[in-house]
Amino acid sequence: MARVFSGIQPSGELHIGNYLGAVQNWVKLQDLHECLFSVVDLHAITQPYEAGGLAQRTEEMALSLLAAGLDPDKSTIFVQSHVAEHTELNWLLTIVTPLGELERQTQFKDKSQRQESVSAGLLNYPVLQAADVLLYKATLVPVGEDQLQHLELMREIVRRWNARFGADFFPEPQAQLSTARRVLGLDGQAKMSKSLGNTIGLFDPPDSIWEKLRPAATDPARKTRKDPGNPDICNVFTIHQGFSAPAVQADVAHKCRTAGWGCLDCKRVLADNMIAALTPMRERAAALRADPRRVRDVLRAGAAKARALARQTMAEVRRRMGLLPAEA
Ligand code: TRP
Repeated sequence: MARVFSGIQPSGELHIGNYLGAVQNWVKLQDLHECLFSVVDLHAITQPYEAGGLAQRTEEMALSLLAAGLDPDKSTIFVQSHVAEHTELNWLLTIVTPLGELERQTQFKDKSQRQESVSAGLLNYPVLQAADVLLYKATLVPVGEDQLQHLELMREIVRRWNARFGADFFPEPQAQLSTARRVLGLDGQAKMSKSLGNTIGLFDPPDSIWEKLRPAATDPARKTRKDPGNPDICNVFTIHQGFSAPAVQADVAHKCRTAGWGCLDCKRVLADNMIAALTPMRERAAALRADPRRVRDVLRAGAAKARALARQTMAEVRRRMGLLPAEA
């Protein structure tokens, strides 16, 4: 059994892109490993944000994770900023982090290009991410492809810290790349993202799922019902792969390639399967919304469990780095 850590930014309600790209896999990992999942609010604030809505988005994301199937009896679910040790370890790790590596991160370069003034926080983002994982000595980190460079840097930080302060203290974490193909927005253009308005929310009711799916982009080669298509480049087929059984996927792919049916037929089957999968989640979300204490209790207990682990690591890190212990 490995220890797993992953984080998700508090963007508010989950959509099917987040679900298929990450959370569906997390739900499975809970039965295989010891898992910690965190709503990473401290990462979210490295880009322009509205302070007024952050707490609510954070709570909404936690609620979404529970409704999607994360189980507090199996996993530790908590808010990053509730465990202050994340920021403490972050600082201590900056000492062994090469500035050049931070400046070379593609995510940093992309994000900083979109901003007028670039903060040290944005540059530091991957160091905080390393602290998230190393605080719990997690060895398995499920992430999307866009995070692989951050994971490589994390491993570099581990090697440097271990070389200087204690051989083999931190394990080198491995990325577990999600096998799911990346879901694009319903426009088939950019990635699925709430700010682009091209999503299906995880808790959308059936009629709204169909309303959004019906006009969704498919393989542009299928101009008419008689044109065969290629499921490998069809975003609707990617969504099928997340919600339909393997036998159905095979049938769908065949009917697409042979023009055996039209895109609308394909989408009707998908809508049924999505509605079947998402209805229990929508119901769980409604139950959690009706009882807001429940989410807060889960987060309080999760933070307490995480903190207990974090404190052990930090005591040892401080000692190895030579800091004077505080008087009890
Ligand atoms: N940077 C990750 C993302 O944007 C989120 C994240 C923060 C994370 N800390 C993490 C992922 C630690 C894995 C492990 O998706």
